[in-house]
Amino acid sequence: MAFRLALLPGDGVGPEVVEAAVLVLKTVERTFGVTFETSRHPIGGVAIAAGQPALPSSTLDECLKSDAVLLGAVGDPRFDHLPRDRRVETGLLALRKGLNVYANLRPAQAWAALEAVVPFKADRVAGADVLIVRELTGGLYFGEPRRLDEREAFNTMRYTEAEIERIADVAFQLAGTRRKRVTSVDKANVLETSQLWRRVVSAVAARYPDVQVEHQYVDACAMNLVLDPRRFDVLLTENLFGDILSDEAGAIAGSLGMLPSASLGTGPGLYEPVHGSAPTIAGRDIANPIGTIGSLALLLRHSAKAEDQARAVERAIGAALDAGCRTADIAEPGHPTLGCQAMAQAIAERITS
Ligand code: IPM
Ligand code: MN
Repeated sequence: MAFRLALLPGDGVGPEVVEAAVLVLKTVERTFGVTFETSRHPIGGVAIAAGQPALPSSTLDECLKSDAVLLGAVGDPRFDHLPRDRRVETGLLALRKGLNVYANLRPAQAWAALEAVVPFKADRVAGADVLIVRELTGGLYFGEPRRLDEREAFNTMRYTEAEIERIADVAFQLAGTRRKRVTSVDKANVLETSQLWRRVVSAVAARYPDVQVEHQYVDACAMNLVLDPRRFDVLLTENLFGDILSDEAGAIAGSLGMLPSASLGTGPGLYEPVHGSAPTIAGRDIANPIGTIGSLALLLRHSAKAEDQARAVERAIGAALDAGCRTADIAEPGHPTLGCQAMAQAIAERITS
């Protein structure tokens, strides 16, 4: 049976970057003689504008029935005034929770071809290759109780041992396939949740004797990540810290537009670029599709179990960059730029089996 891929283009630049990834996927199908059965479903502002909730139940059902989900972006300033439970972002969080994708993988690497656009000294970042493993379905994002009143508001940061253990397992397993180092990031000098986090991570670490573990406070880690990104292999952290550190890691890759992500759990995986809907550049064919095309590569690796196809897409991204293909966000001043679809085409053309 063909692999069922649910596409959720969403808002802003979402539809453009998803179409770019579909263009690459068609080349993968031709090159490798495989077939993906795609369907498209609404989420976010698009759904609200059509009189539906941000996450229509039909969309969640279709995602649950699929083998993997590729999402563009969710975020629409027209609906920013809505109460939190009706905001478009809440639709994305409901999708993550509904799919139970608790493990969010966000790889960030320094691309040799992009040395000139990285805001750090090239000799400091060259060769950097960090994998952020972010807990995605717990912490402050989901903790109850939560409340917003006129003059007071609060959120709850809550983690259970089981939630920490399963994400730590993912991080240690992945570290075993890489440079065998896990940096667990917390704020254990202040937060009880972090004290539990550190205790559980240490216990899990004991089960992976060939993987080195270290603990860093999130404030120190934020600085170390820009001062010396090469010291990191796998960075394991909770939901909000991971959200913040992954945007920071975008600087290592040259642009947030470069970063892909995979969210894994017990059912279909959810794949999305780390960037948002970027409403100010939407519809102009200037968005960088590499974060989404990289997410497609992760989908091929983790959900389709097609490592050769995943590598072919990643090689093609590198080859296009090496050949000087640039979208505006990663171009040096004066360098000719490609639009979103032309960049996807340049990558597709470089796919080889
Ligand atoms: C991300 C985004 C989301 C998050 C928003 C849109 C809810 O910033 O995927 O990093 O905070 O998780
Ligand atoms: Mn974010």
